[in-house]
Amino acid sequence: MAETSHSATPTRRPTPQDVNDREVVIRVRGLEVGFGTKTIMKDLDLDVYRGEILGFVGASGTGKSVLTRAILGLVPKRTGTIEVFGEDLDALSPQSRKAIEQRWGVLFQQGALFSSLTVKQNVQVPMREYLSISERLLDELAMLKIEMVGLKPDAADKFPSDLSGGMIKRASLARALALDPEIVFLDEPTSGLDPIGAGEFDDLISTLQQTLGLTVFMVTHDLDSLHSVCDRIAALAEGKIIASGPIDTMLASNHPWLRAYFHGKRARAALA
Ligand SMILES: Nc1ncnc2c1ncn2[C@@H]1O[C@H](COP(=O)(O)OP(=O)(O)OP(=O)(O)O)[C@@H](O)[C@H]1O
Ligand SMILES: [Mg+2]
Repeated sequence: MAETSHSATPTRRPTPQDVNDREVVIRVRGLEVGFGTKTIMKDLDLDVYRGEILGFVGASGTGKSVLTRAILGLVPKRTGTIEVFGEDLDALSPQSRKAIEQRWGVLFQQGALFSSLTVKQNVQVPMREYLSISERLLDELAMLKIEMVGLKPDAADKFPSDLSGGMIKRASLARALALDPEIVFLDEPTSGLDPIGAGEFDDLISTLQQTLGLTVFMVTHDLDSLHSVCDRIAALAEGKIIASGPIDTMLASNHPWLRAYFHGKRARAALA
């Protein structure tokens, strides 16, 4: 990619045009993932820049969750490289791998809170795994995260079955933020929420991204989220990234799936 000659002044908020100057925190090259005889993605390249909210779209079943899980090392890849923070994940010692894992947080598509644990205990799961700190500090930190995602303190002692869908998403986000990550992976964080709840969750993600300087990798079908909070969007189809860029790039694309998605009936409400 060509070097640009200008340098941003430190006080200016980065714009999408600055993207070429920004640090790549996730670099995927030539990725192939499949199961048995089925190939889900092939020759897939993707860059995620520090501090951005990247919206990741694609038809159901195209492999958005599989790609997320492949980056996290939860699904094996056949070929390709995945670098996070400039480190090739295949080349890491177990200790370095653990150190990298502490720098990301994940909100899985199914929420994946432990049903037998309270919200506070769920938030403490990654803390117990990676940190050696006192029970008092564990409690203080968990309450801080719970507050940070907009839950009331009394939610801390509730079990997932006692929470609304929106509260479960927030509790899952609190757990994803447990270790003060630099990157959060959110797999369809607003699915199942009503439009107002989804909008509030988008605002929360946007606020956290700005105040904590998070990089957000967000799989979503939510056109409102794509329009309102994502700095860039990447689209997956036929096992590859077919387009990436700001929303305007997506809207201008002639790819049939992108046209149908961004200019279809449901898109009009989001554009209005
Ligand atoms: N562990 C697995 N073993 C075999 N096939 C799998 C496995 N995990 C996912 N798949 C298949 O990979 C494909 C992509 O699945 P994935 O869950 O990534 O889709 P998605 O794009 O996230 O869809 P959605 O938008 O519905 O969440 C699907 O055909 C799915 O059945
Ligand atoms: Mg999925």
